[in-house]
Amino acid sequence: MNKQTKILALETSCDETSVSVIENGQTILSNSVLSQIESHQRFGGVVPEVASRHHVENITVMIEEALQEAHTTMADVDAVAVTQGPGLIGALLVGVNAAKALAFANDKPLIPVHHIAGHVYANQLQSGLKFPLIALIVSGGHTELVYMENHLQFEVIGETRDDAVGEAYDKVARKIGLPYPGGPAIDRLAAQGEDTYDFPRVWLEPDSYDFSFSGLKSAVINKLHQLAQKGEPVIPENVATSFQNSVVEVLVGKAMRACEAYGVKQLIVAGGVASNRGLRQALEAATAEKGIELAIPEPKLCTDNAAMIGAAAHEIYLKGIRGDMALNGQSSMDIEMYRD
Ligand code: KG4
Ligand code: ZN
Repeated sequence: MNKQTKILALETSCDETSVSVIENGQTILSNSVLSQIESHQRFGGVVPEVASRHHVENITVMIEEALQEAHTTMADVDAVAVTQGPGLIGALLVGVNAAKALAFANDKPLIPVHHIAGHVYANQLQSGLKFPLIALIVSGGHTELVYMENHLQFEVIGETRDDAVGEAYDKVARKIGLPYPGGPAIDRLAAQGEDTYDFPRVWLEPDSYDFSFSGLKSAVINKLHQLAQKGEPVIPENVATSFQNSVVEVLVGKAMRACEAYGVKQLIVAGGVASNRGLRQALEAATAEKGIELAIPEPKLCTDNAAMIGAAAHEIYLKGIRGDMALNGQSSMDIEMYRD
């Protein structure tokens, strides 16, 4: 019988400290996630310094917890993987240094992982990637359409020209008095409202797969100002529905056009905003109509976690890519770096 490959993965790029043990890139033996959301909520967003400090305090305990839960020791682990970037530099450095120390002390290979590759590979922990595919990446820091002909062959075909979609959700939420992170709160409200505000759909040039959300965000803010000036009430659930409909229509429209143009088998959705119920429902209907398989991870694998980093690390490990003791965190990083 072939020996199973076990990877210990660390994720500290933003406000979740997470450690996971993954077998053969597909089976989660453990996935410990410690969210710092409560510490950042009172500031209305992630404070980088606070995030780094929490990672430092918690990373060692999280490593122990993940190994214990997986009934594994470092001796039994084949490689140590870590999110190298993109993300908050101080936060990334905590994971990178912990991973380097573990790899060095236990004489294990070190695998550097791109955070967004992790979000894409979260799907490998469920239905599995089926090539060729299009990945719609929607998170707090990213909005990208990526074509993949095979493992690790990421080709960015479209991206946001300004705000990321999660960022737009968080900003609009703040304007209507919802707590951070605003995405889940808007999603819940949107289910109760009506599309009465008629916000714009930003398509850009007809052949473009790029996105732009800052105009929509401004349209929402202007509308709120106008209503306040006229002394008219704001109906938060209608703002949520109108905003979400605009976002979802553009995301689904561009993703489906890309799926058809590239003739793919599968559309995968990745990143925190992939948990959005409105987006899921619209994509389910659109892909069913076109006979394309839709893969969206369960919500706890959509938000930042180390299991997805371990899943991507497995392919990177098989490809022979290794980090050395000079490995550094990268606040921005090119996802096309793994291409042949
Ligand atoms: O991927 P993620 O956990 O962190 C980044 O790498 O950015 O994504 C976080 C983002 C936040 O902006 C949050 O508001 C958004 O994902 N989000 C949602 C939902 N759940 C999380 N946005 C819309 N609807 C949701 N249900
Ligand atoms: Zn993320």
